[in-house]
Amino acid sequence: MKITIIGTGYVGLTSALCFANVGHQVLCLDNDQNKIQKLQNKIPTIFENGLEEMLSKALDSKNIEFTTDFSKAINFSNIIILAVGTPQNEITGEADLTYIHQAINLAKKYINEDKIFITKSTVPVGTNHQIQKILQENCPHQIHIASNPEFMREGFAIDDFMKPDRIVLGIDHKNCQEPLNQLYQFWLNQNYPILYTDITTAELIKYASNAFLMTKICFINEMEELASKLQANIQDLSLGMGLDHRIGKAFLNPGPGIGGSCFPKDSMALKFIAKENDLELSIINQVIDSNYLRFKKMAEKIKKFFDKKEIAVLGLAFKAGTDDVRMSPAIEIIKYLLADDFKIFAYDPKAIENTQKILGDKIIYCQNLAQCFVKSQNIVILTEWQEFKQIKDFPEFDNKQILDLRYIL
Ligand code: UGA
Repeated sequence: MKITIIGTGYVGLTSALCFANVGHQVLCLDNDQNKIQKLQNKIPTIFENGLEEMLSKALDSKNIEFTTDFSKAINFSNIIILAVGTPQNEITGEADLTYIHQAINLAKKYINEDKIFITKSTVPVGTNHQIQKILQENCPHQIHIASNPEFMREGFAIDDFMKPDRIVLGIDHKNCQEPLNQLYQFWLNQNYPILYTDITTAELIKYASNAFLMTKICFINEMEELASKLQANIQDLSLGMGLDHRIGKAFLNPGPGIGGSCFPKDSMALKFIAKENDLELSIINQVIDSNYLRFKKMAEKIKKFFDKKEIAVLGLAFKAGTDDVRMSPAIEIIKYLLADDFKIFAYDPKAIENTQKILGDKIIYCQNLAQCFVKSQNIVILTEWQEFKQIKDFPEFDNKQILDLRYIL
């Protein structure tokens, strides 16, 4: 089956490679010439487990092509997947749909037959109906829309896409079902659950799922505070709760706060959606506040724990397995510490370059773990990278003051 994908970010590129991997012919469109050139030359534009090999394989098999040519992309297929970014509006907190509007307004110019547009970008409830309206207006061809939210995690994106817990497909017209079944034939054959709903429900499932997971983490972070005070063991507490199948073990790891480009942004967007519908969702509001407060509390904990204002930070990425530092707890905490005149050395296996774009030379970057150990007596672990577990084997380990905010040691 031929598919066009608009947008080659995390969602667009991973989906494209996975669809190519199961035998579809995929054409990826992006307006960033530089990105497209890199991808054509097998150079990954994001750091993601297994992505480089998959890109190379897909290009060799000729199942994937990259282009900046809108007319070519829209003519290529009658299945068009929208996977452009929907960042957070800094002022209002709502999702910014500029890239969606740019994409559909350009796509509209080239529509020459009936099309199905499938939205994978996370968009507020009602957006797909708006998209349908814009595309259908004055268009002689039949335009259908489907909402197909993504649930993949950075660092595990390929695995999550290939082995999903569920695939959610929101449609308002039964004509869409057959082409969507073809698109997901590989997963249907393997009995992965495919849930068809109406479009509005599919849009809301994405926000509700992210908000629920965020609530779970915020909850365990608060329990960690209490356990710390009571000298109870938070990991046993987490396990003791998680073994109850109604609660589940996943996403009960305490940490320095929730970061990344999804949870913080999507919870704000959900709050905004509720507000627009004259509702205050008190749990969501509390979760958002609790998470911001967590960064501050962690900075306070660091200040109290060490007797000197000089520390080495291990980990800058918002979680292990990625070079992404968007809304990274490490960076939010470092900002508090810098405001209190801390001198900070830092090391991260992947995220130094991206951190430099935010913090510049306000902190001192180390090339490896050993350098951090030489630079400071006081070590704080802020990202759960596998390699940080080795520090127990360092001869200097016993003499160090270590604050492990990820509970990996
Ligand atoms: C999240 C969701 O997990 C995906 O299902 C969803 O598709 C994605 O957002 C999205 O909306 O695109 P992601 O942001 O990649 O994925 O990262 P997570 O693994 O969910 O972690 C988010 C944050 O929570 C990280 O800062 C992580 O360290 C933290 N976390 C996670 C904890 O502190 N404890 C946990 O037990 C789990």
